[in-house]
Amino acid sequence: MRFSAVLLVVLGATTASGVVVKSGSTCIVTPISATPRAVHRSIGTVPPAEPADDDTPQILDAFKQCGKNGKIIFQEGTYNIRQVMNTTDLNKCDIEIHGKFVWSADNISYWLSRSFSVTYAGRSTAWLLGGRDVSMRGFGKALFFGNGQVWIDQNRSQSNQNGRPISLTIWRGTNILIDGITWRQAQFWHTFVAHSQNVTMTNLDMNTTSNSQWKAVNTDGVDTWNSRDIVISNWTVQCFDDCISVKGNSTNVHVSNIVCHESGGMCVGSIGSNANQPDYVENVVFENVSLYHSSNAAWIKTYPGRGYVKNVTFRNIHSENVNQPIYVTSCIYSYQNCDSSRLAISDIHWENITGTSRYNVGAAIHCSGAAPCTDLHFSGIDIKPANGGTAKILCSNIKNQATSGLACTGSCPGSHPQQLQGNV
Ligand SMILES: *[C@@H]1O[C@H](CO)[C@@H](O)[C@H](O)[C@H]1NC(C)=O
Ligand SMILES: *[C@@H]1O[C@H](CO)[C@@H](O)[C@H](O)[C@H]1NC(C)=O
Ligand SMILES: *[C@@H]1O[C@H](CO)[C@@H](O)[C@H](O)[C@H]1NC(C)=O
Ligand SMILES: *[C@@H]1O[C@H](CO)[C@@H](O)[C@H](O)[C@H]1NC(C)=O
Ligand SMILES: *[C@@H]1O[C@H](CO)[C@@H](O)[C@H](O)[C@H]1NC(C)=O
Ligand SMILES: *[C@@H]1O[C@H](CO)[C@@H](O)[C@H](O)[C@H]1NC(C)=O
Ligand SMILES: *[C@@H]1O[C@H](CO)[C@@H](O)[C@H](O)[C@H]1NC(C)=O
Ligand SMILES: *[C@@H]1O[C@H](CO)[C@@H](O)[C@H](O)[C@H]1NC(C)=O
Ligand SMILES: *[C@@H]1O[C@H](CO)[C@@H](O)[C@H](O)[C@H]1NC(C)=O
Ligand SMILES: *[C@@H]1O[C@H](CO)[C@@H](O)[C@H](O)[C@H]1NC(C)=O
Repeated sequence: MRFSAVLLVVLGATTASGVVVKSGSTCIVTPISATPRAVHRSIGTVPPAEPADDDTPQILDAFKQCGKNGKIIFQEGTYNIRQVMNTTDLNKCDIEIHGKFVWSADNISYWLSRSFSVTYAGRSTAWLLGGRDVSMRGFGKALFFGNGQVWIDQNRSQSNQNGRPISLTIWRGTNILIDGITWRQAQFWHTFVAHSQNVTMTNLDMNTTSNSQWKAVNTDGVDTWNSRDIVISNWTVQCFDDCISVKGNSTNVHVSNIVCHESGGMCVGSIGSNANQPDYVENVVFENVSLYHSSNAAWIKTYPGRGYVKNVTFRNIHSENVNQPIYVTSCIYSYQNCDSSRLAISDIHWENITGTSRYNVGAAIHCSGAAPCTDLHFSGIDIKPANGGTAKILCSNIKNQATSGLACTGSCPGSHPQQLQGNV
């Protein structure tokens, strides 16, 4: 009663389309599911019968009306999103989300064919968000629910299905803040940052866990690519794939205060997949990170390609039951041409890396014979196998091995796997 009365009063005084209410430069959006149908009827937007209610048109309308020099408030309740969203032309826009965004699960073929390409590796996304001076805050209340279980089950643990959409992509954004949002059951990667600058992503909570016999795959927390000046802080992630992944042409990335469960950990890569295009990664810090029951903790993975990884620091990284906490490979996935890669890895610091490994490997580092790693620095490395004994430290082609601070116990073959299944 109170709700519809307020809405009708406001509607009387302002221009409205859908149930977006605009007052000054602020758009207030109410989910169809929380709106008395009589209000819709009175303004001629009777939604189709459940379950096909689709909030996408009014969400896009709010961005159109208030996406420049404006504010958009998504009120509490459930917003059903049944279509792709392209909101890349924002300018000075503050977005507040108090409700739950739910991406549809009954229309897989729609998403597979209509998700927007993000060019990287043939991947695509359900939502492109970009522009200048944009904040999107969820106050710890906003929930993005991707219905990921359906995505996991329909593709039966296979990876990189074309068209399977990344939940949110920051695309050609400058000065972007994403804060206080929770993701559950993402469709694919939770987030992607591409062609963007000065992006801050804080206080995010992600968890995509399969409850069937099929596994969550490609459900990375975030991947960054062709972007610079990125701050990632205060996240909790359970994702069964890379937790934080810094991909090609990422510069000045600061990652801190992250807790990852069941993940790939902190990684640089994969990079260098395209022999015709160099990939550069530099000035990256990962600090104050805890990882539980994950495959790796602090790792660099490259294809035998071109470009470089330099000036990367992993600091205060604590592992519990992580398969092999420190890992470097020059030939990810194929384990071929490991010693002919020209992708240079230099000036990398691992400081205060502690905790337990699930198996008997603390570090496995295979640098390319053709481009040995230079200036690797290790200090405060204290990793113990969870089941007792001493952790092996395997090293190959570290140019400054004698001064690196790493007490290598043996060599690391190019074929040393990223996913350890047991003691070696
Ligand atoms: C998204 O919208 C922008 C601006 O309106 C437009 O230039 C761009 O082509 C759109 N992108 C896609 C993939 O539709
Ligand atoms: C799926 O999406 C297509 C394209 O928008 C639409 O024509 C179709 O009605 C949708 N199906 C369902 C079940 O919503
Ligand atoms: C699942 O994804 C793979 C690619 O990873 C693709 O080859 C296959 O066709 C997909 N299966 C279905 C049922 O779409
Ligand atoms: C970077 O973006 C933030 C918003 O997240 C903004 O407050 C800050 O002024 C921007 N920095 C620069 C140098 O523009
Ligand atoms: C993630 O969700 C699963 C399934 O609901 C739950 O068992 C697990 O404890 C959650 N992880 C975290 C870190 O909360
Ligand atoms: C990180 O979380 C802590 C504790 O909740 C909070 O005090 C701090 O302000 C947060 N940092 C950022 C950058 O939001
Ligand atoms: C990385 O940046 C370089 C130099 O700007 C460019 O040549 C290359 O194509 C980029 N690589 C990728 C994979 O985008
Ligand atoms: C290395 O990266 C750090 C962190 O981004 C930065 O402060 C420092 O200036 C960089 N060093 C060089 C030599 O570029
Ligand atoms: C990381 O932890 C160290 C030691 O507790 C602390 O001094 C430092 O400020 C923390 N860094 C960040 C970015 O929170
Ligand atoms: C080492 O890292 C742990 C967290 O993993 C932190 O508690 C401790 O203060 C760090 N030690 C130093 C000397 O910074």
